[in-house]
Amino acid sequence: MTDKKSPTVVRAIDSAEPSSPARDAIFEDTASGSKDFKFDAKTASVFDDMVGRSVPFYDEIQRMIAEQAGDFAVPGTQLFDLGCSTATTLLALDGTVDPGVRFVGVDNSREMLDKAQLKLEAAGVSRAYELQVADLNTDRVVDNASVVVMNLTLQFVRPLHRERVIRWIYEGLTDQGCLLLVEKQTLSASLLNRLFIRYYYDMKRRNGYSEVEIAQKREALENVLIPYRPEENRLLLQSIGFGHVEEFFRWYNFAGIIAVKN
Ligand SMILES: C[S@@+](CC[C@H](N)C(=O)[O-])C[C@H]1O[C@@H](n2cnc3c(N)ncnc32)[C@H](O)[C@@H]1O
Repeated sequence: MTDKKSPTVVRAIDSAEPSSPARDAIFEDTASGSKDFKFDAKTASVFDDMVGRSVPFYDEIQRMIAEQAGDFAVPGTQLFDLGCSTATTLLALDGTVDPGVRFVGVDNSREMLDKAQLKLEAAGVSRAYELQVADLNTDRVVDNASVVVMNLTLQFVRPLHRERVIRWIYEGLTDQGCLLLVEKQTLSASLLNRLFIRYYYDMKRRNGYSEVEIAQKREALENVLIPYRPEENRLLLQSIGFGHVEEFFRWYNFAGIIAVKN
């Protein structure tokens, strides 16, 4: 394990982070939809703008995660943010979680973690923390955790591996620990599913995305973001052993779930 004073995991970068995120225009190019979506350097460079304009109530979701984590995190344990991207959630959590809780941000995109490191340093986060490059499809990372956050990340894990990922999280949680899971979902009722998707694309239009951008990104995400149905996510959590499973957020096809161990 490493801490903030010995950053062996992510190299330090000395350039300053811009105060407002660069605007996402990745899918303006009409050929961009033909390639699978990747969390590479290009995506990392505009990610904060992208996620803010693509996820309904993104800031409120962050606030709700931080609020709940503040009540479940226990000093002497760890908090994991799986798929932490640029550390937006870790920064929100730093304001609500006891400083005796060590943070571990995990992502398989080094470019995202480079951004995360810059943001954590710029904010002067002083608790023990680590940023770890790991692939959730294969790597077991959660240990001595009172809180695990997965905000819009499980949907990118191959379905074949999801049950194992959730089991490893469950086993790595302390008693009364919680998983805060936010996912884009699909619905069994095709009429409602179609309508909810339409309302979602209307939101993206309101947030400044063009028809081309919406269509190209949808195509690029086709084989990469695989949403489960609400009942599949709930069953997955319950079948692994989580005793309390409650929805804490819902906006059409987006849901936040808290799952408590025991
Ligand atoms: C939609 S973003 C998550 C957003 C972030 N949690 C937030 O609150 O802003 C998904 C993240 O999961 C990461 N990711 C996707 N598949 C992964 C995997 N197999 N292992 C680890 N990280 C993964 C991506 O690199 C990306 O940073």
